[in-house]
Amino acid sequence: MAIHARENSWILETQHTAYAFGVHTTGLLSHRYWGAKLPYLDDYPGDLIKDKLVAGSTVYEEFPFNGLGNLVPQEYPTGAGTEYVEPCLKATFADGVRDVWLKFERAEVADLELKIHLRDATYPLRVTLHYRVWEAFDLIERWVVIENEGDTPVTLERIWSAQWHLPIGGHYRLNHLNGRWANEFQLRREPLVEGVKVLESRRITTSHHHNPWFGVDRGTADEEHGDVWFGVLAWSGNWKIAAEVTDFSSTRVSIGLNDWDFRWSLEPGQSFTTPSSIAGYTDQGFGAASLHLHDYIRETVVPHGGALHKVLFNSWETTFFDVDESSQVQFAKIAAEMGIELFVMDDGWFHGRNDDYAGLGDWWPDEKKFPHGLSPLIERVHQLGMDFGLWIEPEMVNPDSVLYCQHPDWVIHFPTRPRTEGRHQLILNMAKPEVQDYIINKIDRLLAENNITFVKWDMNRNVSEPGWPDATGEPRELWVRYVRGVYRVWETLRQRHPHVTWQSCSGGGGRADLGILRFADQIWVSDNTIPTARLAIQAGFSHVFPASTMEAWVTDMGEEFLPLEFRFHVSMCGVLGIGADLRQWGEKEIAEAKKWIALYKEIRPIIQQGDVYRLGSPFTDDFTGVQYMSKDQMSGVLFAFLLHRVDPVAPLILYPRGLIPARLYTIEGYPGARSGAAWMKTGVIVHLSNFSSAVRRIWGEK
Ligand code: GLA
Repeated sequence: MAIHARENSWILETQHTAYAFGVHTTGLLSHRYWGAKLPYLDDYPGDLIKDKLVAGSTVYEEFPFNGLGNLVPQEYPTGAGTEYVEPCLKATFADGVRDVWLKFERAEVADLELKIHLRDATYPLRVTLHYRVWEAFDLIERWVVIENEGDTPVTLERIWSAQWHLPIGGHYRLNHLNGRWANEFQLRREPLVEGVKVLESRRITTSHHHNPWFGVDRGTADEEHGDVWFGVLAWSGNWKIAAEVTDFSSTRVSIGLNDWDFRWSLEPGQSFTTPSSIAGYTDQGFGAASLHLHDYIRETVVPHGGALHKVLFNSWETTFFDVDESSQVQFAKIAAEMGIELFVMDDGWFHGRNDDYAGLGDWWPDEKKFPHGLSPLIERVHQLGMDFGLWIEPEMVNPDSVLYCQHPDWVIHFPTRPRTEGRHQLILNMAKPEVQDYIINKIDRLLAENNITFVKWDMNRNVSEPGWPDATGEPRELWVRYVRGVYRVWETLRQRHPHVTWQSCSGGGGRADLGILRFADQIWVSDNTIPTARLAIQAGFSHVFPASTMEAWVTDMGEEFLPLEFRFHVSMCGVLGIGADLRQWGEKEIAEAKKWIALYKEIRPIIQQGDVYRLGSPFTDDFTGVQYMSKDQMSGVLFAFLLHRVDPVAPLILYPRGLIPARLYTIEGYPGARSGAAWMKTGVIVHLSNFSSAVRRIWGEK
């Protein structure tokens, strides 16, 4: 049984972890435990902070400056009474009362889901905390539903998905992913001290700048060892993480929709559901934390989790906007010869699109470039034995477009302000149903009329002047309604065209999160395709997302200082693609590319569906090592990359992981089989000079 309930206490158990909370003597819902699963139910602690005592010694309540709400680690604080920690909920009632006092009403357990029903002490406002246990993945999912059972509106000013508590009294370090366009997913580690550390997006998308993921450890965890508490928010719009250490040594990480410029008018009889936060604990370091998320994403989140993704060609870094039938056929022939399986035409194919000044919004083939539509090209691509994919950017419009001339009022704007353009484009207000319907119709038609099996959905700017002049209700609902609109469009198109694989791109990794992954199987991780930079970007990305979601192209970037082999090896660590100008590649390059593509096809089940081990980190080590192992631990592959080492003589040793100690394994390039234990303890020496790389396969003996 995963959920144990007794006397208003609940213990949620996964395979290796447990999470416990209960109703405190004061009536507050108090967190009690989150960590390793314990042998007996009685092992789980009760309230550490009793009625008046903290840890059985000092009487804090007698001080006038700290109410119990401040001391008890609450599951879902609301700032009621003398409580000053970060609340999860902030609302104003119609009569001007600006706080919420939640009382426990009842609990419901149904299979793997627990609902805790809370109600305001005075007003007809119901809050239900939802917990779902993902036993096999050692994860717990939390979300909240709030219902207005009264007859006047309630204004929501903050409604977060969860507050996750760390054991009281510890000293912790926050690990997070920071970046910017072309430099996403940089791992940062910093101690948490008293106060609040905020990570957020105010950009209407998830953003390149921070990702809604946290990892908290005691400052000493590494890839294999140590306690790590980690979590994500499944949301593709404005979000916030507030990591707080109170003055009473209580550390908690709150996560949810960003409350910045947020308002939601909860009308009588209506409810509001937050996005989910999914979190877990492991005592086996950051490596295990990633593996739990990877399995969960592959098995429960992405639409085609079990599928192996094809090697693709993408036209962007070769022809840019200059696509037409003959140029693309030229590439397609070379691509097919190399063993590429999916041909994707990027930007530039639609009406009026010759540069980034015009065309967005007019989603039909450009009459000059494709006088007979896309079908002739698609047929040719199919004849060559490849699938066909297409780039779109549906949320956007260029002022120079038919759509904008017809509907200038469809964009996000304030009527009295200039409309700030980003990449010469404006953002369609996806909160408006008519905008959603327009996009659904246009893209549906495109997919119905053409045999397209892959779509790259892009989003190339962030918001400005976030106005919604003709909103019938609260215009600040834009932030949430926009994302829900995007989800509705995507969901409708997915239902109508279930065979299509979608990729989420926002100028690279600006929209990478578990919300969008319910629709998209892949993410375009970064516009930066320079392999040296890519090593760090991919390593950071791997903390959250599996390699099966990581589209990675070999381009001509970095060719002046990196061998083709190195560029291939980097991209083979994800879903391999080619985005280079193949017309410039000579016979030698084409032959080499064929070799790597063939190898990739052999090892991709291990890479896309296996476990990843980060053996050397581009953030801290002078080499990068990545290993993938099949789930049955029978086969694997090692990648090693050396950029620059001052000492050219020191050997580069990789210590593989995930091998069965007593099983015999052979590693490519080394004579004789040795036990998994031997390889893991003594390592594999890889001879590399600066700016070189290696790939080594691992075979286990039956
Ligand atoms: C964004 C994407 C690129 C490419 C261009 C096209 O920058 O990240 O891969 O699709 O748009 O304009």
